[in-house]
Amino acid sequence: MTIQGKVVVVTGASSGIGESTARVLAKAGAKVVLSARRTERLEQTVSEIRAAGGEAVYRTSDVTSKEQMKSLADFAVEQYGRLDVWVNNAGLMPLSYLNKLKIDEWDRMIDVNIKGVLYGMAAAIPIMEKQGGGHIINVSSVAGHRVGLGGAVYSGTKFAVRAITEGLRMELSPTSRIRATIISPGMVETELLQTITDEDAMQALKARAPIQQPLRGEDIANAIAYAIDQPETVSVNEILIRPTEQGS
Ligand SMILES: NC(=O)c1ccc[n+]([C@@H]2O[C@H](COP(=O)([O-])OP(=O)(O)OC[C@H]3O[C@@H](n4cnc5c(N)ncnc54)[C@H](OP(=O)(O)O)[C@@H]3O)[C@@H](O)[C@H]2O)c1
Repeated sequence: MTIQGKVVVVTGASSGIGESTARVLAKAGAKVVLSARRTERLEQTVSEIRAAGGEAVYRTSDVTSKEQMKSLADFAVEQYGRLDVWVNNAGLMPLSYLNKLKIDEWDRMIDVNIKGVLYGMAAAIPIMEKQGGGHIINVSSVAGHRVGLGGAVYSGTKFAVRAITEGLRMELSPTSRIRATIISPGMVETELLQTITDEDAMQALKARAPIQQPLRGEDIANAIAYAIDQPETVSVNEILIRPTEQGS
């Protein structure tokens, strides 16, 4: 089975990369289950997908709750009878210098970017094992490969996502036929920068070579679609994707 007919859960589907992923996959024939906290945004996207002839439902949930992630997985199975792909995309990036001691923001990033991914995996793995296979796609970042100023904790979370996904691949790809994919985007135009509260970190980001044409959410969605669309015998393990202009 390629994308057509696959049941795909996307977290963080209320904006940016997640929303684009839901739209692109639905257009390609997937049955998409969108999730995030902002219900109205999910409702709007689902109604637009349906109006365009696609299949989609939504469920409001917070990735920091393991119970809500389990309910989201159960909801996908209730709605569509199975669960083929789980895209752990929800994340936030409140960059800050360490000596600003924005400890609540560190906690939040660890809760959403790392524990949220783990809770998504915990919800999906038992169902996929029972089905005899599946695909888990975790969104990391170029920041999961290199550390920038103000990005110590954010990069820490994205390095962790890559490590966890590699472990998932080693353990569950050969035995349970669960494919594992890391998506590592460079700069994408989304709402992500809105989480930055440290002016100095924001200035450091702006001082980097400006990028006139960042990626669009759809560019990352297309990479996710590519990974899903491969035959079950092919496991795309990582895609690193930058705007052409981005040097670092
Ligand atoms: N934009 C970039 O340049 C870039 C580059 C590399 C990697 N990434 C990664 O791409 C992913 C998506 O980010 P984006 O750029 O598309 O930013 P975005 O537009 O801000 O989207 C973030 C999404 O995460 C959701 N989210 C945040 N906290 C959540 C929570 N506790 N529970 C459930 N959902 C939550 C948000 O939905 P609600 O607020 O409605 O819950 C939203 O849908 C993130 O993991 C980010 O680190 C982005």
